[in-house]
Amino acid sequence: MKNFLRLLFLLTLFIGSSFNSYAAEKVEYLKTDWSFKGLFGKFDRGALQRGYQVYTEVCSSCHSMKYLSYRNLAEKGGPEFTEAQAKAIAASFEVKDGPNADGDMFTRPGKLSDKFVMPYENVKAAQAANGGAYPPDMSVLVKARGGGVDYIYSLLQGYEDPPVGVNLDDGVYYNKYMYGNKIKMANQLSDGLVEYADGTSATVEQMSKDVTTFLMWAAEPHLESRHRMGFKAIVYLIILTILVYFSMKRIWSRIETKV
Ligand code: HEC
Repeated sequence: MKNFLRLLFLLTLFIGSSFNSYAAEKVEYLKTDWSFKGLFGKFDRGALQRGYQVYTEVCSSCHSMKYLSYRNLAEKGGPEFTEAQAKAIAASFEVKDGPNADGDMFTRPGKLSDKFVMPYENVKAAQAANGGAYPPDMSVLVKARGGGVDYIYSLLQGYEDPPVGVNLDDGVYYNKYMYGNKIKMANQLSDGLVEYADGTSATVEQMSKDVTTFLMWAAEPHLESRHRMGFKAIVYLIILTILVYFSMKRIWSRIETKV
């Protein structure tokens, strides 16, 4: 039995350490509880839906999400809007299509299969509108930044007056969490900026958390099924460990009795 416990202990240690790699961070980011972290982590549907609202109403005027389609909004594991809701969302956007029979481009209401509309025609136009800085595409931004969700959550709340002696050019803002502390995106959030459909109070903190949750899902749409798989794999490993232990006992029992 002692051996068995030891094996089980090592196994849990191994599993534990592979999930702890999240924790190592250099900068002290703001802390919040993410429902999707950990072994059984799941997205909070409400947060995803509210996060989509913040993205659309606030961030989407500058940041694209080119890998997302409106269809994704109704998929399992995501915000899980109903199909009708997702259709209505898609239809609320004008999508450029064409050319038609006359060779002209035209606009039409969006469909589920359309990708999220882009705020700018191209990178140059985006830079021109933002003082030379390019608002990065947000489809996988969570993955592209060290610190991931904690970083983005903090950045959105990290605007401060610059310390004495730090001069900022026009269109440059001081942010505690930005690399080098200078960012060419103004503070985007203020309390009550959006009116949440579900009645949640739209504090800066709440909006930061919701939109970051939404970005996490965009970057990892299969997180929930991955967690489910991981859990099954662990159960499988534990059962296997038990079986291996008892067959080992059985085999060695012949030798032990002779001693
Ligand atoms: C008015 C345009 C505009 C809006 C609206 C806007 N951003 Fe930005 N954002 C920018 C620009 C420009 C940059 C690039 C800043 C830089 O490189 O200095 C940026 C950069 C970022 C970054 C990356 C910082 C980094 O590490 O490089 C994040 C994260 C971000 N924005 C999140 C958001 C979120 C979330 C929203 C909506 C709540 C939002 N932004 C709304 C213009 C905007």
